Amino acid sequence: MNKMARTFNKGRNMASGLALWSPLLHLLVLVMCIQGTGGRKMSETQDGDGHETTHTEHAHAHHPSSHMHHHMDPSFMIFFTFEDLKEGKTRAIYFPKINPSKSPHLLPREEADQIPFSSKQLLHLLHFFSFSQDSPQAKAMEDTLRQCEIEPIKGEIKSCATSLESMLDFTRGVFGLDTPFSVVATTHLTNSTTNFQNYTILEEPKEILAPKMVACHTMSYPYVVFYCHSQKSVNKVFKVLLGGEDGDRVEAVAVCHLDTSQWSPNHASFSVLRTKPGASAVCHFFPADNLVWVPASTSM
Ligand SMILES: *[C@@H]1O[C@H](CO)[C@@H](O)[C@H](O)[C@H]1NC(C)=O
Ligand SMILES: *[C@@H]1O[C@H](CO)[C@@H](O)[C@H](O)[C@H]1NC(C)=O
Repeated sequence: MNKMARTFNKGRNMASGLALWSPLLHLLVLVMCIQGTGGRKMSETQDGDGHETTHTEHAHAHHPSSHMHHHMDPSFMIFFTFEDLKEGKTRAIYFPKINPSKSPHLLPREEADQIPFSSKQLLHLLHFFSFSQDSPQAKAMEDTLRQCEIEPIKGEIKSCATSLESMLDFTRGVFGLDTPFSVVATTHLTNSTTNFQNYTILEEPKEILAPKMVACHTMSYPYVVFYCHSQKSVNKVFKVLLGGEDGDRVEAVAVCHLDTSQWSPNHASFSVLRTKPGASAVCHFFPADNLVWVPASTSM
């Protein structure tokens, strides 16, 4: 476990300039082959005056309004409107780059299931991972546990998976035992190190027809934790080829939520797009270490 804790530490120390810790947003890059070493994410953000803050935004979760003043944080620049999803459109997008070797480990289920995963056990967990109570890692763990414990919004099912096996079980539960499914994820086609820049949509976005989807976001934690959720409301999944100002090329996965009426008014997307729940579709890109599961027969 110490090794895990060290990796978690290193991951945050190397955060250059700005880092974040949040589920959806800070989704750091990790090319996820399912079998591979798991995901990563979160992070920690230094705000304008340099002190660290923890975001709890989640694309679909509620978050405290006290975070609203972070709406200028580049890490929130993943949201866009349905109208912007067209070839030739340009906008600033945040795609955090991470070093997979600094990412937390993916635990086998047998191991993960032996570690409590509950905010009631936080003190015990901090001791277990050797983090002091006031450390940024402690804050991240607390945030992750809290987000995992929030009740789903109406029409949503969610689960935090602490292993690949439990992520697959959740996904199978959503799609049904007989439905084969596959995964799509954002792929970086170049080695750009720029996290935040203007990207232009290079081709007409391709819709991945999926009657249902399960989105899994990596969370900030000493080992890989996926926040997975699926909503009954209508969502559309797209593959979007993006070209960055510095020559970066990203084959990005984006989802558009056509019905946001159940979302918290404090959702970060509403301040970025200057809209409100239910008023219009909200789309967002996924960072490379997030996984979107879709029924196989309908994908691509
Ligand atoms: C990116 O860098 C890695 C390691 O340096 C290299 O193997 C890979 O080919 C590079 N990819 C591109 C698209 O340049
Ligand atoms: C994107 O382009 C606009 C217009 O050229 C510029 O004002 C803005 O600073 C750019 N944003 C980023 C993140 O580079």
